[in-house]
Amino acid sequence: MRTQILFCLFFTLTFANAQNQITIPDTLNGTVFNLNLQNGTYQFYAGQNTQTMGVNGAILGPTLIVNKGDFIDITVNNHLEDTTTIHWHGMHVSAANDGGPHTTIAPGASWNPRFTVLDKAGTYWYHPHLHEKTNLHVSKGIAGFIIVRDSEEAALELPRTYGVDDFPLVIQTKTFDANKKIVVPSNADTVLIVNATIDAALNVPAQVVRLRLLNGSSQRNFNIGLSDNRTFYQIGSDGGLLSVPNAVERLRLTPGERAEILLDFSNMQGQTLSLMSYAAEFANGIYGATNPGMGMMMSLNNYNPNPMNGTNFPIMQFIVTEKIANAITEIPTTLATVSPIPESAAVITRNLSLTAASMGPNSLNGKFLINNASFDMDVINYTIPLDNVEIWSITNLSPIAHPFHIHDVQFFILDRNGRAPVAAEQGRKDVVLIHPMETVRFITKFADFADDPVPYMYHCHMLTHEDDGMMGQFKVVSTTNVVENKIDGNETIAVYPNPATSIINISVRQSRTKLKHYKLYDTRGRTVLEGDFSENSDLVIDLKNIASGIYILEFNSEKQRFIKKITKL
Ligand code: C2O
Ligand code: CU
Ligand code: CU
Repeated sequence: MRTQILFCLFFTLTFANAQNQITIPDTLNGTVFNLNLQNGTYQFYAGQNTQTMGVNGAILGPTLIVNKGDFIDITVNNHLEDTTTIHWHGMHVSAANDGGPHTTIAPGASWNPRFTVLDKAGTYWYHPHLHEKTNLHVSKGIAGFIIVRDSEEAALELPRTYGVDDFPLVIQTKTFDANKKIVVPSNADTVLIVNATIDAALNVPAQVVRLRLLNGSSQRNFNIGLSDNRTFYQIGSDGGLLSVPNAVERLRLTPGERAEILLDFSNMQGQTLSLMSYAAEFANGIYGATNPGMGMMMSLNNYNPNPMNGTNFPIMQFIVTEKIANAITEIPTTLATVSPIPESAAVITRNLSLTAASMGPNSLNGKFLINNASFDMDVINYTIPLDNVEIWSITNLSPIAHPFHIHDVQFFILDRNGRAPVAAEQGRKDVVLIHPMETVRFITKFADFADDPVPYMYHCHMLTHEDDGMMGQFKVVSTTNVVENKIDGNETIAVYPNPATSIINISVRQSRTKLKHYKLYDTRGRTVLEGDFSENSDLVIDLKNIASGIYILEFNSEKQRFIKKITKL
């Protein structure tokens, strides 16, 4: 009875006609960023305060706009009362900079990752990743966009004026209790928000507009479409632009996934259009369908009733306003160079299985396992040689679909149960939804980063499943192009990659505090670079402004001098 009353209340609110002007996150530009994780108070419902978590504000976080090739320096200050981490989802960074569950930031502490942006222009995001608390910290509000720009994207006639014709939209669902407190975890996610706004409306100019869609929900899948069923154009997937626009009427977005789309609002001034999720079209067996499991006997606690399950519903509304100067009015015909890795390049296929820990009607409530094991912080599940090209073949033997995500790399989907992927999934990806009884094979290369003290993660991006242990970890290890040497007796030191393109990492196995000062000489003995390693940062030397050639790198530790020849490509 109680659920029924709550359900009616939420139903009314979700589908009420009053529209709220959407919030567009602020931007931070440049190469030095300060992110303050903080508690906040936010009104999802006018006049009713909800306790939230945000970055530099009460909820969500600023959009970081960065350029490929830039060396960026981020300080994350944790003003929460809880330990957490911040992960740069989709970005190709070293494991120490990746912000996985091992790289914790205690309350009051700061973390200072520094890395070169190696990614293609696209839409990435950041969110907390503390083991067993990822869902709590994300659901409380911490998530932000990262927009990477590059010269290839800049050369295209695309909308790219942030907040004018280019909009980031993070779609999430939440559960509120009667006092408007956020409930985590929950399968009763009856309230839909876009950029933290319920019943969101966005003013768009009467021209071609770019939307950067992110499914930031803990569990729910969306089947994106427009209320008049018009065609729209997907231009990007998780890891950047597609080779050509993909004209579609539907686009499925699973948790963690991004899609950049173009919508043509030309000649529509004064009209409105809704972004929809056509979830009635979902086959059972995925979160968001009428039945989230494959078997009719299986139920997920508190999943029903929910006005979003197995029905078509509006996500937000567009209100078309005046066309602005320098409008983009056409959909381009070609986009970026996408270079899939040929299957023949793979040196190994790794087989992974996704299973439910228990059988029977309750199995949807978890746990879920990868290769019959639950996550263990102390177990490295795979050790991968640097530069390996690998096929990961993942079979879902459980009754619910799982969005599989891997850190460090972008991958290319080879096939789903033997069939080539649809156009929407032919670009660079870091999340893939795997249906029950489906095998997805993807191919990827583990390049550039190895031998960090912490591993990378792979996991289900349903945050309930991830927190519950549906995760594993891998280390990338150097083979030929990392040379290990001894310093101070028993300490092992690795310098990689070598040759290097933009940065040199130094990893020290036991302690990071022993190295004090570095110098880089050219072959004629002239110092071209020197600096100090600070105690709490990663040991990274930026070679971006150094000419190609051979150099001598020298470090001083407390007791010894260490010299290594390196090549800058
Ligand atoms: Cu978006 Cu490992 O996470
Ligand atoms: Cu990630
Ligand atoms: Cu899962």
